[in-house]
Amino acid sequence: MAIPIFVSGLLVLCFSIIAIASDPSPLQDFCVADANSTVLLNGLACKDPKLAQASDFSFSGLQMAGNTSNAVGSRVTPVTVTQLPGLNTLGISFARVDYAPWGINPPHTHPRASEILTVLKGCLEVGFVTSNPDNRLITKILQKGDVFVFPIGLIHFQRNVRPGSAIALAALSSQNPGVITIANAVFGSKPDISSDILAKAFQTDEAIVKDIQSKF
Ligand SMILES: *[C@@H]1O[C@H](CO)[C@@H](O)[C@H](O)[C@H]1NC(C)=O
Ligand SMILES: *[C@@H]1O[C@H](CO)[C@@H](O)[C@H](O)[C@H]1NC(C)=O
Repeated sequence: MAIPIFVSGLLVLCFSIIAIASDPSPLQDFCVADANSTVLLNGLACKDPKLAQASDFSFSGLQMAGNTSNAVGSRVTPVTVTQLPGLNTLGISFARVDYAPWGINPPHTHPRASEILTVLKGCLEVGFVTSNPDNRLITKILQKGDVFVFPIGLIHFQRNVRPGSAIALAALSSQNPGVITIANAVFGSKPDISSDILAKAFQTDEAIVKDIQSKF
């Protein structure tokens, strides 16, 4: 019986890996988020499945360009469980990203999701940085139709490298991927992280830190 035990062990291992790769698997057909529930749990409480409507499983408007008139020249339009309650417990979400000419989607990380992105229009420089101690930058220029993946948790970015606007679509392996924009989190926390801490961390002086903090 050694072989069946080995095979079942392998299956258990495979399912364990699948189970930790994204949000927990659902235990029912669906669990449309009940935005009014006061129950606190991992995810959102389900509304009565008999009351579920097609509108709970749909979102409209992704054909519309996001407003990129801002300091970084990009706009993310998310379609997570917040915008589409039917995503609750399904472990996936979606986003449209618009870029002004030379605009960037600044370095950020999704604490709960890997991201797979494709370029619909234009040309993007994309990259992510591996964790310590290597901190290797993995980067590529993407043309229309190219696909790139940003592994869960790693800091990544995109930049439009053409004079025209650019559009990307991204899918993420969580209903609620979360986003930490590095510059905003480090220099724009409320209240501020002490400037002497950041001066030491960034190996610079406090005046420079305070100047950056003033911009967030
Ligand atoms: C939440 O409550 C509001 C106001 O009572 C109601 O309009 C809405 O349909 C409710 N949403 C859900 C998902 O039950
Ligand atoms: C885009 O955002 C800018 C800055 O917030 C604003 O002034 C402008 O009116 C917005 N444009 C549109 C079309 O909403």
